[in-house]
Amino acid sequence: MSPLDKPIYVTQPFLPSLEEYMPYLEQIWDSKWLTNGGPFHQELEKKLSNHLGVDHLALFANGTLALVTALQALRITGEVITTPFSFVATAHSLLWNGIKPVFVDIHPETFNLDPEKIEAAITPQTTAIMPVHVYGKPCHVEKIQKIADIYGLKVIYDAAHAFGVNYKGESLLKHGDLSTMSFHATKVFTTFEGGAIVCPDAKTKRRIDDLKNFGFADEVTVVAPGINAKMNEVQAAFGLLQLKHIDKAIARRREIDAQYREQLSSVPGIFCAPLPADTIYNCSYFPILIQDAYPLSREGLYEKLRQHGIYARRYFYPLISEFPMYRGLPSAARSNLPIAKTAADRILCLPIYPALENESIERVISIIKGK
Ligand SMILES: Cc1ncc(COP(=O)(O)O)c(C=O)c1O
Repeated sequence: MSPLDKPIYVTQPFLPSLEEYMPYLEQIWDSKWLTNGGPFHQELEKKLSNHLGVDHLALFANGTLALVTALQALRITGEVITTPFSFVATAHSLLWNGIKPVFVDIHPETFNLDPEKIEAAITPQTTAIMPVHVYGKPCHVEKIQKIADIYGLKVIYDAAHAFGVNYKGESLLKHGDLSTMSFHATKVFTTFEGGAIVCPDAKTKRRIDDLKNFGFADEVTVVAPGINAKMNEVQAAFGLLQLKHIDKAIARRREIDAQYREQLSSVPGIFCAPLPADTIYNCSYFPILIQDAYPLSREGLYEKLRQHGIYARRYFYPLISEFPMYRGLPSAARSNLPIAKTAADRILCLPIYPALENESIERVISIIKGK
């Protein structure tokens, strides 16, 4: 790596100026209300619900606790059908609830749970399906709901990547019984750490609000063994500030997506995952598949980019089903997950974030083109 080449990471958080953030902090210092559903927390829940076009939303300290709590809220037990091609927190949330994950293979074009393979994995113990909108691209929500309705299963979407995604004219987050979000520093919308559960009605939100606060329903009543998963005021205030800039930030992501697509689509052996149909996409990731026609393997290109200071990421490699706490499960067998295995071995996510400069994009492209 030449000293002139500054490192380019797969993502970089969008940080508004510190000056813009200070008045929020001053307000917190004045009020001394730091957490437990303070004014910024209340305001962010309202503003985010409006922005996303959903009815109710409960903020969380992070996306993993949102997943764990969503399962608790719906009293999910037994077995849950899920994808191996995701961040490990998806399946961990099941183990934290004493639930057995059942892995089902993915679709080769969407990288999402293949709805055609779900039914064969249903047993008398199955209580729910937990699909992931991988890279923020919509799962086949209609087919999944149809299966859930036939078998009486709940659907919890891990929508950690799907901030602001609109599918067929409405928020993607409205599908399923619940959707969970992550506002981690690597996400399109961030509160440093953070997350949310999108709830269909006020009663469900109430239960979720109790569960994220130790199970307290009021000062003296504890209704469930809840957890502490509350978002604090410093995070919520930062979320309000992010929200002011989010449209501009996503617009810049869209430009970067278009530049990569234009320049890389014709490179032999580089497959750019297509933009999803009927969707206003958030351009949260730019995944490419390295195919046989490319002169390097995925590992080869990954290493070459690193030598030039470009830190693309292999999301999602290894598959969740390969980790020690999962690999003994019958559904984790590689023969059960051939599409996911191929995707994990060939995928590479390229740098994409609002502050990524055109010359950096050109640098990434020219290395991939072998120039
Ligand atoms: C698909 C997916 N699910 C869950 C999570 C967990 O979210 P958090 O890091 O906010 O706990 C993440 C990312 O971090 C994710 O990518």
